[in-house]
Amino acid sequence: MNVIEILDKKRLKQELSYDEIKYIFNGFLNGEVEDYQMSSLLMAIVLNGMTDEETFALTDVFINSGDILDLSSIQGIKVDKHSTGGIGDKTTLIVAPIVASLGVKICKMSGRGLGYTGGTIDKLESIPGFQVSLSDEEIIKQVNQIGIAITSQTKNLVPLDKKVYALRDVTATVESIPLIASSIMSKKIASGADKILIDIKVGSGALIKTEEDARHLSKLMIAIGRKYNREVRTLITDMNTPLGKAVGNSLEIVEAVSILKGNGQGSYLFDVCVELASNLVSMALGNSLAEARRMVINNINNGAAYRKFLEFVKWQKGNLAALPLSKKTVIIRSDRNGIIKKIDAAKMGILTFELGGQCAKQGDTIDYSVGVIIHKKIGDEVKVGHALCTIYLGDKNTYSNPLDAFEIV
Ligand code: URA
Repeated sequence: MNVIEILDKKRLKQELSYDEIKYIFNGFLNGEVEDYQMSSLLMAIVLNGMTDEETFALTDVFINSGDILDLSSIQGIKVDKHSTGGIGDKTTLIVAPIVASLGVKICKMSGRGLGYTGGTIDKLESIPGFQVSLSDEEIIKQVNQIGIAITSQTKNLVPLDKKVYALRDVTATVESIPLIASSIMSKKIASGADKILIDIKVGSGALIKTEEDARHLSKLMIAIGRKYNREVRTLITDMNTPLGKAVGNSLEIVEAVSILKGNGQGSYLFDVCVELASNLVSMALGNSLAEARRMVINNINNGAAYRKFLEFVKWQKGNLAALPLSKKTVIIRSDRNGIIKKIDAAKMGILTFELGGQCAKQGDTIDYSVGVIIHKKIGDEVKVGHALCTIYLGDKNTYSNPLDAFEIV
C-alpha cells in the first residue's frame, strides 16, 4: 500500500477500503504519514465526502487506536450524552444530575472549550477544588455509589482522534459530516456506555449550520451505534441563539443550579434539558417518553435533582460557595426602540472569548469569573435605555460591541 495512491483515490472520489483507511490513519498516528499528507486527505474527504462504509471503517480505526473503558463493573444500564457544542450550552450540568437522581447511571467524559465554544470541563473547573481527572477505578466507584461522574477524557482514549482533530482545527477541515460522526461516535463508544444520546446543535453558533446536515449526521451516528450494539438517539436543537441567559463558566454554573432548583420553567433551556433527560431516562428504564418526562419534572420540583448535583460536586471535591464571579459589571442598554429579532450566539461566544472566558489554544489560562448575562429574549419589546445584557469584566477591556449581537427591528 502507498500513501500517494490512497490520496489519489480519494481525490478521484473512489471508495477507500478498510485496510487503506487503517494504513493511512494509523501511519499518521505513529508518525509515518506526514501532517501535509493527512491534511490533503482530510481536505479531499471534506470536499468529496465518505461513503457510510468508509465512515464505519474510520470510526473503527479511531476506537482501536487507544484504550476502551470497561464499565462492566458498574451495575445496571449506563447512559451517556453528548452535545455537538454551542454557546451557553450547560445542559450536561443539569441533565446528568436529573437522570442520576432517578437511579439512571451516567458516566460522562467531557471536553474543554476551544475557540469561542465552551466546554463542560472548563465550566466544572470554575468551581474551586473541583477534580476533573479521575482514574478508571475512581469513576467506577463513584458511579456505583452516587450514579454520576463527569470527568475529562482519560489520556489514552481515542488518541488518533486527538491528533487528527488538532490538524482539522488548523486546516479548515472540521466541517465534514463523516469526520464529525466518526470523531464523536468513536469517543462515545470507547467511553463504554450502553445507551447514548446525542444533542445535535444547529445554527449560527454551532458546527452544523443546516437541518439537512443535522439529519444526515443523526442517521450516520445511529447507524454507527448499531454496529457496536449501542442504542443511539439524537435530538436536533437550536443554536442560533445562546442557550439560556448565561454565557461564561461560573455564570453558567449559577444558571444550571437555578434550573435544577426549578427556576426557568417554560424557558427554552429548561425545555431542552427536560427533553434530553427524559430521553435518557426512557432509554435506560424502557418506559414511555411521557412517563419519563413526568418523572424528570417531579425530581426537579421535589429537589432531588438539585440534591444530586450537590452530592456530585462534593464527591469531586468542588466548593460551590467559592465560585468566582466578577464584581466589575457593565450594563449594556438598547440604543433604539423595537422588537428583538436575533441574539447572535456566535457573537456572544466571541465576546466571552475576548473577555478571557475561553482559551484560544489548549493550556491557555481562563478567567472563570467573566461572561455575559442576557436579559432579553427573541420577540421581547425594548425601548431606548432598557438593559439588554450585563457584562462581567475581568482584566481584558478590549472586546467587541455587545450591541452588535442584538438585532432590534
Ligand atoms: N466534536 C468532536 O469531538 N469532533 C468533531 O469532529 C466535532 C465536534
